[in-house]
Amino acid sequence: MNAERNTGAESTLEARALKKSYGDFEAVKGVDFRVFGGECFGFLGPNGAGKTTTMKMIYGAVIPTAGELAVAGLDVYHHEREIKRRIGVVPQENNLDDELKVRENLLIYGRYYDLPRKVVLQRTDELLDFMQLSEKAEATVEQLSGGMKRRLLIARALINDPEIVVLDEPTTGLDPQARLLVWDRLRELTTEGKTLILTTHYMEEAARLCDRLVIMEGGLIIADGTPGELVEEHVSPQVLELTADHRSLEELLSVVEGADSVERTGDETVLVYTEDADTLLENVRSSGVDIENTVYRQAGLEDVFLRLTGRRLIE
Ligand SMILES: Nc1ncnc2c1ncn2[C@@H]1O[C@H](COP(=O)(O)OP(=O)(O)OP(=O)(O)O)[C@@H](O)[C@H]1O
Ligand SMILES: [Mg+2]
Repeated sequence: MNAERNTGAESTLEARALKKSYGDFEAVKGVDFRVFGGECFGFLGPNGAGKTTTMKMIYGAVIPTAGELAVAGLDVYHHEREIKRRIGVVPQENNLDDELKVRENLLIYGRYYDLPRKVVLQRTDELLDFMQLSEKAEATVEQLSGGMKRRLLIARALINDPEIVVLDEPTTGLDPQARLLVWDRLRELTTEGKTLILTTHYMEEAARLCDRLVIMEGGLIIADGTPGELVEEHVSPQVLELTADHRSLEELLSVVEGADSVERTGDETVLVYTEDADTLLENVRSSGVDIENTVYRQAGLEDVFLRLTGRRLIE
């Protein structure tokens, strides 16, 4: 473990004016970000925002069209091989070898890195255990469930003991328990000093794991900060989720007009953001508007996302 990395002072990843076009289409339109050693850095954004394209530029599957990108202090245009040796990758799409057994997938992948056989054998066992796949070691990949494949992809990404791990939607398709296992394991990796770059559509995941994150939309970064900073900067702290029959909704909207902001999320639901939910709720009650359901909660990343992109995430 590198102590210097743990201080978080060293920048492990740095992008400046980074762009990627596919033909005439600009998927990433010039993004800047810095990731420090030992942190978990997240990319959020709706489908098509450019997250995977950015991940691919980081792990060398796509060459940037313009801009600068350094990974582990190395320029991606000139050090592709060295970067690949030092990072682990969980791609968005499963690219495991279906016909091979679970254990063989790890062993063969380990050999690409020219690691001694003994080391690969030992890591393979450790990683199968780490991802709770030991029981499936002799099954072929096609015999695994979707969630098990995802866990195997994560195990495979760690075979070379990488200092940076890029995880493109690591928990998509996992059941809640498996997701908790993965969160736990990813946290462990950051405690070991590894740097994680993560994309996700799950706000709870981002809030729990990410030290800092960016929100992308249309190929641009539209916001960045710690989860706490993003919430503080973009939304009021208290939220009322009010559900009313669509006929009462217009009336309700006029009652909550004085709130800091109001988002309609369907025909029958509005989210009302305020510093003072008590007073607001009192106003709603005394107005006599027929409310079917009221939920009070603290604002979170989900609200920031909705505010900035106008879209709700998968919950
Ligand atoms: N190989 C390609 N050729 C042409 N266009 C592409 C290619 N790959 C991605 N794109 C386009 O680039 C844009 C960004 O795609 P990208 O996969 O980076 O999005 P994303 O943020 O990862 O979305 P998702 O949340 O759906 O995974 C999309 O409009 C997509 O259609
Ligand atoms: Mg993607």
